[in-house]
Amino acid sequence: MTNRRIQILDTTLRDGEQAPGYSMNMREKLEIASALESLGVDIIEAGFPFSSEEDFIAVKEVSARVECTVAGLTRMREADIYRTYEALKDAKKPRIHAFIATSPIHMKHKLRMTPDEVLKACEEYVAYAVSLCPEVEFSAEDATRTDLGFLREVVKTAVAAGAKIINIPDTVGYGTPTETYRLYRDIWETIPDPNAITLSTHCHNDLGMAVANSVAAVAAGAGQVECTLCGIGERAGNAALEEIVMALKTRNDFYHVETGIHTRLLYPTCRKLNSVVGRSIPTNKPIIGANAFAHESGVHQHGVMTNRETYEIISPEDVGIPKSNFVLGKHSGRHGFERRLTDLGLHLDKEDLDEAFEMFKAVADRKKAVTDKDLYAIAGEKKRTIGAGFHLIRFIVNSGNTIPAMASVKIERNGEEIEDSCMGSGPIDAAFKTVDRIVRHTKGLEKVKYSLEDYSINSVTEGQDALGEVIIKLRKDDEVYTGRGLSTDIIEASIKAYINGVNKIITI
Ligand code: KIV
Ligand code: ZN
Repeated sequence: MTNRRIQILDTTLRDGEQAPGYSMNMREKLEIASALESLGVDIIEAGFPFSSEEDFIAVKEVSARVECTVAGLTRMREADIYRTYEALKDAKKPRIHAFIATSPIHMKHKLRMTPDEVLKACEEYVAYAVSLCPEVEFSAEDATRTDLGFLREVVKTAVAAGAKIINIPDTVGYGTPTETYRLYRDIWETIPDPNAITLSTHCHNDLGMAVANSVAAVAAGAGQVECTLCGIGERAGNAALEEIVMALKTRNDFYHVETGIHTRLLYPTCRKLNSVVGRSIPTNKPIIGANAFAHESGVHQHGVMTNRETYEIISPEDVGIPKSNFVLGKHSGRHGFERRLTDLGLHLDKEDLDEAFEMFKAVADRKKAVTDKDLYAIAGEKKRTIGAGFHLIRFIVNSGNTIPAMASVKIERNGEEIEDSCMGSGPIDAAFKTVDRIVRHTKGLEKVKYSLEDYSINSVTEGQDALGEVIIKLRKDDEVYTGRGLSTDIIEASIKAYINGVNKIITI
């Protein structure tokens, strides 16, 4: 049986980025867009151009950068659609993704439109979008809570108006796998020439069924899956790309489909996203979590040692989880370092590579063995120092359980070195207060106000000399900025993370 090719539409930069605490600046969005393209996604949904100037620019910049299809989301309004078309002008393969809500509750309370008005808007604006861009996707928002008879009419209208991709979103994560399967079979039979149309699935995870519903839609004939890296997205998130891809691959005997995803890049790409948004991957996360391939019980360990397949249905290498036995050390040269990064699928440009190598040398001086996991963290650390921002030069802390903590921090900005010191309730508090003082005394930044909202520390690998990865969240007005710092010294990692967060505030 030949495999049907499923298109993967990644909406990490649109639906994913929309979730609180996941915002990315432009450089980060471009970094993720390039990583998604290398991963092999077919379509990158890069933003919602009418919603903000920032989204408009993101769609424009991603369009200019990647070769794959770029989609921009739009409401069914002329001005919105035109703006989306403008944002997509430089895309090699542009796609306008137009949506309108079709469930009774959304039509009545959100749109304040009758079903007839929704049908009319669908006809008029899909046709308008098609007049600007040949590839148009139509989404019936909240489709799973839409009256089935009405949904059929909406879909037929959108197809007649020229939409080539029909998406049936489970906007609120309400569907079940069996219902989803039946719904897609029904819609498939409703469309006059279903082979000329791509049916798409877009599931949210409110009941934890987003991936199950997505693959049920595929089994029923969907040709496109909309998902995000690590399942990030509104509320409980979207369907996770890595889980869908590996479910379809591992159970090819059942689904008989394939995707264009290079599965060995799944772990590095998810790690990159987490490092950009300042999150750590939950240990029990399927496919990429630290425990996904860990075997604790004796029975399991024995089974895996005898034959891996006794308890593992996926090989870690197939998803790019590094084997931890390959190590570099302080005698490793740049060549070996670069080679290992390439083997791990970490492709950095020259400038990033220079920074990463410098960081590697600093780590190797303090840590006996630099493992693949460390290398992922180091590669994610690159370019954390923003041009116009502050850079840590040195710090000294003095603390103990019987004395007040005291920190002295020396920072450089635009060639000028500034040193200050402060007391605090502990060494990290003292160091952060010192950074705040330096910021407040910097010309032009006197009025910048922010507060620390979250602080977390994780070790990248096991062992006493492990690299510590600190992630902090700083709030400024309604925005939360993430800072990340890496070091074998947790106070240094904390200060670096804090400065990284402050730099984002002052340079974005
Ligand atoms: O969840 C949803 O319905 C969406 C659409 C706008 C595609 O994100
Ligand atoms: Zn969504």
